[in-house]
Amino acid sequence: MNILVIGGAGYIGSHVTRELLDRGHKVTVFDNLSSGLRENLFPEAVFVHGDTLRYEQLVAAMRSGGGMDGAVYLAAFKAVGESMLKPEKYSVNNIIAAINLLNAACETGLRYIIFSSSAAVYGEPAYLPIDEKHPTNPENYYGFTKLEIEKFLSWYDRLKGIRFASLRYFNAAGYDLKGRIAGLEQNPANLIPVIMETARGTRKELQIFGDDYDTPDGTCIRDYIHVSDLAAAHALALDYIGKNEKSVTVNLGSETGSSVMEVLETARRVTGKPIPSRVAERRPGDPAKLTASAALARELLGWKAEYSDMETLVRTSWEAYRK
Ligand code: UFG
Repeated sequence: MNILVIGGAGYIGSHVTRELLDRGHKVTVFDNLSSGLRENLFPEAVFVHGDTLRYEQLVAAMRSGGGMDGAVYLAAFKAVGESMLKPEKYSVNNIIAAINLLNAACETGLRYIIFSSSAAVYGEPAYLPIDEKHPTNPENYYGFTKLEIEKFLSWYDRLKGIRFASLRYFNAAGYDLKGRIAGLEQNPANLIPVIMETARGTRKELQIFGDDYDTPDGTCIRDYIHVSDLAAAHALALDYIGKNEKSVTVNLGSETGSSVMEVLETARRVTGKPIPSRVAERRPGDPAKLTASAALARELLGWKAEYSDMETLVRTSWEAYRK
């Protein structure tokens, strides 16, 4: 298929682009390079330097190369803390951009959209593991934007026949196993990149946000999923909605929980670096434990996490960061 990857120069977008190219799709990357990086672009993919807030640029990109069959939308802002301080920024860049995308799809006849959603749509867990029937009640504005976009997608499915896959990622981490993605995220706030920056010495220490949670070692437990597993799910989701003409919403997680302490210990062992750490205050809004049920993605998409053990997550990250 002819696929437009919006946000394809970013961390997850570049992995998705690589996966789609490897599977024989024709890819055009659309990115404004606000956080995406030129070094994440591949010569086999066409690059359009464009902005999702410029509607006519989206339309032009969707008409290019003989017309796009589908789009992957990964161009949203994703910093949970920032979204609570600057909701305006998230309203515009996430929600308005998504409406532009849907309207441009209608105008150009693009039929399939793969959307990067998030476990943040669920909010504080009522039970674990979280499946797709879990109530959605986002605790932060970022999660709210993801849930709203899912609702727009459902309406455009009903009214305009645009089929979508909404992929609710848990904690994305790791790097391409073959080392083909070079760009490092700027000012990361997520646990594994922060640990990597500490290991390579560009950050003084890791702050552990609370060690008095109701978990075996007192630190928060999350479900880390390898970015290459996520990338494979995008390709499978595209196949699924194309073949079945049916939209889907699925969780993507490894179904395994790791505590902050466990991640840190694995990183110390794999990198051989001391990685100084200090226990700090709890971060507001952090649930003690989050784990996914990915049974639906397995059943519908034939997907399964292959590279999401903590050792591989940390090793592939370190290979990118040590350079
Ligand atoms: N943590 C630290 N120190 C840090 C960074 C993180 O102790 O410097 C802890 C957090 O408190 C949390 C865990 O590490 O307990 C993971 O934190 P991240 O910031 O890496 O990830 P979150 O679980 O907060 O959120 C991530 C994504 C969201 C997504 C969510 C889904 O950032 O977009 O996973 O599970 F919604």
